[in-house]
Amino acid sequence: MSLSFLRPDLAQFAAYTPHPGSADAPLPAQVDHLDTNECPYDLPEALKEKLAWLAHHEVLANRYPGGDHLALKAAIATYVNESAQLPNAPFTSDYISVGNGSDELIRSLLIATCAAGQGSILVANPTFSMYAILARTLGIPVIEVSRDADTFEVDLSAAQQAVEQTSTLPVRVVFMVHPNSPTANALTAAELSWLQQLPQDILVVVDEAYFEFCQQTTAAEILQRPNWVVMHTFSKAFRLAAHRVGYAVAHPHLIAALEKVRLPYNLPSFSQAAAQLVLEHRHDLLTAIPLILQQRQILHAALQAQTPLRLWPSAANFIYARPPATEDSRETLDRVFRFLKGQGTLVRQTGGGFRITVGTPEENQRTVDRMQAAFQS
Ligand SMILES: Cc1ncc(COP(=O)(O)O)c(C=O)c1O
Repeated sequence: MSLSFLRPDLAQFAAYTPHPGSADAPLPAQVDHLDTNECPYDLPEALKEKLAWLAHHEVLANRYPGGDHLALKAAIATYVNESAQLPNAPFTSDYISVGNGSDELIRSLLIATCAAGQGSILVANPTFSMYAILARTLGIPVIEVSRDADTFEVDLSAAQQAVEQTSTLPVRVVFMVHPNSPTANALTAAELSWLQQLPQDILVVVDEAYFEFCQQTTAAEILQRPNWVVMHTFSKAFRLAAHRVGYAVAHPHLIAALEKVRLPYNLPSFSQAAAQLVLEHRHDLLTAIPLILQQRQILHAALQAQTPLRLWPSAANFIYARPPATEDSRETLDRVFRFLKGQGTLVRQTGGGFRITVGTPEENQRTVDRMQAAFQS
């Protein structure tokens, strides 16, 4: 049926599928979800009980959630000051906007900058796909530049040309992930200085969804640069993917613009309570990070020794790997992906390789065994 009231270009879009490829073949009963870069550990039992208590006694189901997120923003500001090691605590709640996951904030940034024919965005592929997907749903042109095939550093001369081009709408936003997904490399000094010298009429978005795994944040830049925004999420190191909480840190004027375009009650009361609770318990929860980093090293070494995969160093909680470059590497990629899936290991197939989340020791061992079997089969 043709619904002629729909925008014609919508026909080119596909709805988001959380685990692409899962629909075409049945999965075994036990599945290792290593395709979405979550923390492999659920919240500890004591925090689950606290959350249950909060749901029972503090969250009023009949009332809309608090729309100003003030308590949560204040707690986030404290955490950002702490993680950026800024003892004079410059960040306050005025510097924070909270979203239904950072996905919502990406859309808000696009609405506040490029929508209504105001500009285009620049991304460096391979990178997080949602920038381009969300931009296109808003009719915003996406300019794509590439990365070095060995180091995944951004092609900065192509990026500079893109911001100087006049053939399409001017670039208003540059999206960078630090460390990048799927390739797991942190921004280099050259990339950082290129971002720092961009003119004030271009917004620099540094998406630091994985910063807790490398302890590098560019948040302090915001204090000198009103055209800089840093995005963080509770979905990864803080184990709250189910609750959908992300936040942006930026100059209060930019935060005020984001607040204008967001939906009024964008964050459920229970999610706000959960985010506050994990921040209170951040020191305990973040003790899992050294364990995950240790597992990352074990996984990397085992994949290196036992499979023909080419692996890159990682500054995040996932590893990027590609099959050896041969004429049929595309088929190898598909075949290995299907084999792993059939065995119950879900990894992300992207950018000509696999992005593999570091899981529990048992999951990682299964990843290595199955990957090895996939290449032997
Ligand atoms: C780089 C990057 N940014 C943002 C997100 C989305 O995070 P959230 O769960 O807060 O929407 C992800 C999720 O995988 C990501 O990898």
